[in-house]
Amino acid sequence: MRDLPIGVFDSGVGGLTVARSILNRLPQEQLLYVGDTAHSPYGPRPLAQVRRLALDVMDRLVTDGVKMLVIACNSASAVAVPDARERYEVGMGIPVLEVIRPAARRAVMTSKSGRIGVIGTEATIDSRAYEDALSVTPGVTVTTQACPDFVPLVEQGITTGPEVQAAALRYLEPVKEQGVDTLVLGCTHYPLLSGVISYVMGEEVTLVSSATETANDVYRALAARDLLRPATAPNPQHRFLVTGDTGSFQALARRFLGPEVQGVESV
Ligand code: DGL
Repeated sequence: MRDLPIGVFDSGVGGLTVARSILNRLPQEQLLYVGDTAHSPYGPRPLAQVRRLALDVMDRLVTDGVKMLVIACNSASAVAVPDARERYEVGMGIPVLEVIRPAARRAVMTSKSGRIGVIGTEATIDSRAYEDALSVTPGVTVTTQACPDFVPLVEQGITTGPEVQAAALRYLEPVKEQGVDTLVLGCTHYPLLSGVISYVMGEEVTLVSSATETANDVYRALAARDLLRPATAPNPQHRFLVTGDTGSFQALARRFLGPEVQGVESV
């Protein structure tokens, strides 16, 4: 069981920011990553469709043999977690982790004023999943903002410069005006925009990355279940599967994850 890979699911390439954070903490672990690139992006899709697409791909991922499933996509985490827990955790004994609760928890711990901002895709913001997770804490006020232009910009490799800065100003000024002291980067792609987001929000606003917080949860969950792959195990082997074109994934994947992406297979 300890030698099985961690299953990581995302709509496409963005979940590799979560994979990067996991490997930074757990370099001996093996990943089985699946990106639903045939249907990416999920962000502009209706919530019911995101839920159906995500469960369809995750059904296939868990049958390949994984010791844990990480739903790295915020849009999918926003709508598919109860069903995924029912199917894989209750039904098959595979622990299911997601990206929203870990980030919400960190944001609540970080914020001094209780004014918390959340940015994400349209699907994530429309679902109100972050508001649900954050507002269980008394005294918290949540300001949310969908940033639909961010994902295409990152995927074109535009993470600095006037175009992305103009988009950041347009999306973030209203959030800043609410006086937030903490901003949740509620999308897989946004860690690659931390520079411009921090520049626009100002240094007094703390950015919380759902990728980093989820990776901490993965460590905790594996350690608590005695499922950590031993440091003495042979070198880890990762697999990257996509439902769409392998070439375009491979090109972007190096930017998101790094040299660990050797080959990409289609599912
Ligand atoms: N992975 C998605 C998320 O974190 C962003 C890309 C998409 O819209 O599919 O919400």
